[in-house]
Amino acid sequence: MPVISIAIQKGGSGKTTTAINLGAALARAGKRVLLVDADPQANLSQSLGLEDEPVFNLYTELKKEIQESSGDLVKAVVTTRSGMDVVPASIDLAVVELEMAGMIGREQLLSWLLKPLIPAYDYILIDCPHAIGMLTVNALLASDYVLIPLPGEFLPLKGVYSFMRQFDMIQKKLNPKLQLLGLVMTRFDERKVMNVGVKKQLEEKFEGKVFRTVIRTNMQLAKAQEAGMDIFSFDGSANGAKDYRDLAEELIQKT
Ligand SMILES: Nc1ncnc2c1ncn2[C@@H]1O[C@H](COP(=O)(O)OP(=O)(O)O)[C@@H](O)[C@H]1O
Ligand SMILES: [Mg+2]
Repeated sequence: MPVISIAIQKGGSGKTTTAINLGAALARAGKRVLLVDADPQANLSQSLGLEDEPVFNLYTELKKEIQESSGDLVKAVVTTRSGMDVVPASIDLAVVELEMAGMIGREQLLSWLLKPLIPAYDYILIDCPHAIGMLTVNALLASDYVLIPLPGEFLPLKGVYSFMRQFDMIQKKLNPKLQLLGLVMTRFDERKVMNVGVKKQLEEKFEGKVFRTVIRTNMQLAKAQEAGMDIFSFDGSANGAKDYRDLAEELIQKT
């Protein structure tokens, strides 16, 4: 039931990797999972080995919704070999923000489109783009929770604060049910002083909101993505598989 946006405006944070592998872990735990690729780069769709330009995708349905309120996301759903359903993206998504401009209710297009799908799934994960534009705003308005992945390699606090200001505004003015599910450290190496320091700082600033589970740096995760697979199908014994399994368990407890 809950809709979870995986978001932060910085590219390379692990959003797409988390959407795919957390989704796959939830599916393996028996949950019905839908992934929505809301990033014009369509990394998620490609990383699951989906075809390049599916006839129906998030863009085609948003466009129909904009033009004649006739979008139908159900048509765009494809089932992957990972056992998850996916609404794929297409590169045309890059122009949809312009096409929405001036339209009444443009922030709520995705909420409308997702409505008929919500009862069919235990978890819906939305992979957000790298910018806080209309697509991310649409994702946040359609969501119950936000999950923020953050690599421990750089000092991410500034980006998180600016993201949280947008989050607060959206929660206050547009979607009061939106909650911060938490922050999860990605590409984490406990031997790196910086990584540990960043985690500690986040734990102080966002008390109780940093996931106990960290996603360690694991090249198998990158290789799985290149192979168009989730980590469990690619290498179930990899650290990445264990970490995303643990994250799924922790998430199930919190939701
Ligand atoms: N834990 C990890 N260990 C190693 N590589 C990772 C890990 N998480 C993500 N990556 C790699 O880092 C790159 C960026 O991750 P990605 O999930 O695409 O970030 P985003 O969606 O936030 O831009 C990808 O090449 C991905 O395979
Ligand atoms: Mg991405």
